[in-house]
Amino acid sequence: MIETRNGTPFFDGCDTTRLAQKYGTPLYVYSQTAIEARFAELRRDFIERWPGARVAYAAKSFFCLGMARLVAQAGMCLDVVSGGELRTALAAGFPAERIEFNGNNKLLDELELAVENGVGRIIVDGAHELEDIEAICQAKGRRMKVLYRVTPGVKADSHDYIVTGKKDSKFGFPLDEDVIYPAVEAAIRSPYVDFLGFHFHIGSQLFECEPYKQAASAVLELVRQVKDRYGVGVQELNLGGGFGITYTTEERRPYRYYLDPMMELIAARFDEMGLPRPALVVEPGRSIAGDAAITLYTIGSIKEIKGVRKYLSTDGKEVVGSRKYVSVDGGMTDNIRPALYQAVYRGILANKAGQPPEETVTVCGKCCESGDIIMKDAELPRAERGDLLAVFSTGAYGYTMASNYNSIPVPAVVLVRNGRDECMVRRQTWEDVTACQLIPDTLKGDER
Ligand code: LLP
Repeated sequence: MIETRNGTPFFDGCDTTRLAQKYGTPLYVYSQTAIEARFAELRRDFIERWPGARVAYAAKSFFCLGMARLVAQAGMCLDVVSGGELRTALAAGFPAERIEFNGNNKLLDELELAVENGVGRIIVDGAHELEDIEAICQAKGRRMKVLYRVTPGVKADSHDYIVTGKKDSKFGFPLDEDVIYPAVEAAIRSPYVDFLGFHFHIGSQLFECEPYKQAASAVLELVRQVKDRYGVGVQELNLGGGFGITYTTEERRPYRYYLDPMMELIAARFDEMGLPRPALVVEPGRSIAGDAAITLYTIGSIKEIKGVRKYLSTDGKEVVGSRKYVSVDGGMTDNIRPALYQAVYRGILANKAGQPPEETVTVCGKCCESGDIIMKDAELPRAERGDLLAVFSTGAYGYTMASNYNSIPVPAVVLVRNGRDECMVRRQTWEDVTACQLIPDTLKGDER
């Protein structure tokens, strides 16, 4: 989506330097064209190839009222994990029956909200949750469609904080006989819920198909057991999300790379069992929002610290040189991923896009925290105060994980499409940052 015209990077047809002037920095900029293209790819390669298939966009990766509208307009479903995401979706007019409610500790009032509004599915995460749903359905005279989230016991290759398919996990039901079968039986016999099937999500930013296939195999065995034990066929399988994207050198794979083998495996096993093929659902987040956005920052303080950076010279010798810290006007408050997962990003100086890289710098944020780094060892043209830095692929888990650490306001989000720009989330004001704060009466008056 980035294209350089006369030395200036344009994002989905919009001049990045002009966007920075108009909206200020830091600024998240999302390309509507990129988001729509991902949905179109999923429609073509998954939904249209498997009867009953659905895509439930994972709101946690990036969400706001505008994004809810984009997901709705694309005809997709939505995966929410909290009352907040659910309320945002409903406030945007997102059809409740297309919402799937995930989460390992859904609160009673969140479940009530889901049942009252008639969400499409609740993905039950533990035995107690079924009881809560039954009690709510009984009280409100409702029925609810449910799936069970299971942990298929596979270890996917990604950062430890974002793998979720292994047995030792806070998510889902482990596949232990004494845990899963009584729970399945309770759902099958319940007068308040329709038990549709199983859900698994093995992790995020994954590049291999094998763990998905292993997880699917484990769940297919569960399907067979359920049929043998209770004579009930599973109607729906949710395969989660997790498809990896390119941040720097990783090679993004098409959705078909992951989904084709799973569709084949599932089709073959259901045919073998003599069961009608189930509806399939995926829950991608990062692979839709991730590379659909960039973040723009203005460069401020620049410091060079001598004798602290070890690196290999062109002739392979270890050299100790200086490290240049280039600070931007945001940081871990708008992108905590480098600090939390050692995530690596790529970026350019937007106002010097035509110039070759000249120096290796550490781009850091403005928070009081040494780990507040945006890009380590970035190769950039010579940076100066006032330059505009564009960091790529910041669309997933950036804005939604933003915080007010150091009382820094959360940046604005702009939606761009083919040269048109519109604000989707306004920048927090200083007043917003203290809006929930009260001075206790006992602390009023008597200032010294
Ligand atoms: N479905 C479930 C049940 C999930 O837990 C997740 C992500 C997804 C779908 C979407 O996964 P995706 O397609 O986006 O990989 N904050 C971390 C990622 C946490 C992922 C949490 N669950 C990060 O910034 O890398």
